[in-house]
This record gives sequence, structure tokens and C-alpha cells, in this order.
Amino acid sequence: MKFPYSEKVLEHFKNPKNVGRIENPDGQATEGSSACGDMVSLTMRVDESTHVIEDIKFESYGCASNIATASVITELAKGKTIEEAKKLTWRDAENALGGLPNVKVHCSVLAVEALHSAITNYEEKHGLITEKEPTTI
Ligand code: FES
Ligand code: FES
Repeated sequence: MKFPYSEKVLEHFKNPKNVGRIENPDGQATEGSSACGDMVSLTMRVDESTHVIEDIKFESYGCASNIATASVITELAKGKTIEEAKKLTWRDAENALGGLPNVKVHCSVLAVEALHSAITNYEEKHGLITEKEPTTI
């Protein structure tokens, strides 16, 4: 059987970037997978005037694909505004990793979902989600 992981995946798995947890984060999320029961947590620090993601870290309780995707998606998100980071998809992560085995797609989706949820969390905290604002009668 051919080894399923690309060199890039192995590189990020063995030497993941942005591992850890930011204290008092501006945005955070934990996503779990119903498929495998694994989890990934993401914390980020965002500049409140520019909405640029200044720092972002993850903790993964998942597999090599999950760790590699969290590593690469945090690298892609760092330095971007939340609007730019929102547009990142699991396909961007997959491309950056040089492909992922099909059975491992949900693991990378999980890491990308955590990024999107952390952004939503930031937006909620800062009153940036207009559709959720209470309607005045
Ligand atoms: Fe195990 Fe996704 S089912 S990492
Ligand atoms: Fe659970 Fe990959 S098998 S995150």
C-alpha cells in the first residue's frame, strides 16, 4: 500500500506551526468531529481597529491530517483580516498541503471549521454580526 500522506503533510505533522493556546483570546472555538470523536481548539488575538489576526494558535486532539491542516490554516490566516480569513476553505488548506487522502477530508474540514467558528466568536464579541443584533420595534 502506498503511503497516503504528502511530504508537506508529514512536514507539518512533525513540526506543526502555531501550536498552543493564547491567554485571553479575542476569538476562540473548539470543534469536534462526529466521525472520529476528535477535537481541535483554536485561539486568536485580533487587532480591534484593523481586524487583522495578529496571532493564532491551535491545540489538536486529532490525527496527522487534522494537525497538519490546523498548522497550515493558522499559517494562512495569520496576518489576514477576519474578512480575508473567512474566505479560506479546506481546499486552500488541502492545496497548501499538496493533497490529502480522501478518507481524511473531514479531518481537514474540522480544522477549517474551527477557524471559521473562532472568527464568528470574535464577531459576536465585537458586535460585528448585524443579523444577530436585536431588532428594535
Ligand atoms: Fe480519525 Fe478523522 S476519523 S482523524
Ligand atoms: Fe479524527 Fe482525523 S481522524 S481528526
